[in-house]
Amino acid sequence: MKMNKKTLTKLATLFVGVFILGSCSTDPKSPGYEYMPDMYRSPAIEPYVDYGEIRGRINEDVKMKMSALTPPAFTIPYYEGKDSAFVQMMLPYRRMPDSTYANVAPFYGWTTSKFNEYELAKADKNPILLNSKDSEATFKKGKELFTAMCQHCHGEKGDGKGPMVLSGAYQGSGIPNYSTLQIEEGQMFYSIYYGKNKMGAHSSQLNKEEIWTLVHYIKRFQDKNYGKFDKNGKAMWGVSADASKESQSAKPVGM
Ligand code: HEC
Repeated sequence: MKMNKKTLTKLATLFVGVFILGSCSTDPKSPGYEYMPDMYRSPAIEPYVDYGEIRGRINEDVKMKMSALTPPAFTIPYYEGKDSAFVQMMLPYRRMPDSTYANVAPFYGWTTSKFNEYELAKADKNPILLNSKDSEATFKKGKELFTAMCQHCHGEKGDGKGPMVLSGAYQGSGIPNYSTLQIEEGQMFYSIYYGKNKMGAHSSQLNKEEIWTLVHYIKRFQDKNYGKFDKNGKAMWGVSADASKESQSAKPVGM
């Protein structure tokens, strides 16, 4: 009985040893033999992965095919938290595309509005309120977004002379000079979200918070004091915009 126990322990140790050593590999870059690869590598489909070749196995059907698809309409991000303003911001944009978008990608097949939504959007106000404390942070974020997503067409100065226009890569006209653009902020949002003529829609690349941040950023091209506060914390730009800050109710109206 005693002898048997010893033999068993020896056998078990040997087995475990073989098991562990067996997973080693001489290739320093190789993780060795993986007994349950799905436990370390997510089998979920991830964006920007070519699933046509996984660890040397070729699947011709999906090779070179895009795995990142535009999320279905009205998809909202998962959020665990209690910030209702943030939730409001992440909910789908309340304006539908109007009928002029019926055959425009990526809104093909969407239910379109029978109203002139662009006209109605005049009433929408930027829900991101500017105040003397964090206004500049909003403009800093706006600059980052603008540089990455818009500047190549609209130009660093917002004059419509971006590098793509100057180099001739963008063949077309109609890029406005922001300083003379006479539209309301809600309309800016609508056009950035759904696109307009030669400008594509940005609804799948930017969320509403980012677009409203850009709207603030664009308005500084129109008034260099926009979003600036004097040392007493008083808004330095136009009267109507002046009223829009601190006194403005926190209720988001432009969503
Ligand atoms: C491919 C070049 C291109 C890119 C990139 C681009 N735009 Fe435009 N944008 C245009 C053109 C062209 C127009 C003029 C559309 C028209 O009125 O026909 C325009 C117009 C606009 C307008 C005025 C819309 C209106 O209703 O008159 C705003 C605001 C705007 N763009 C903001 C942005 C922002 C913000 C970005 C970046 C997220 C951006 N654009 C990216 C080409 C571009």
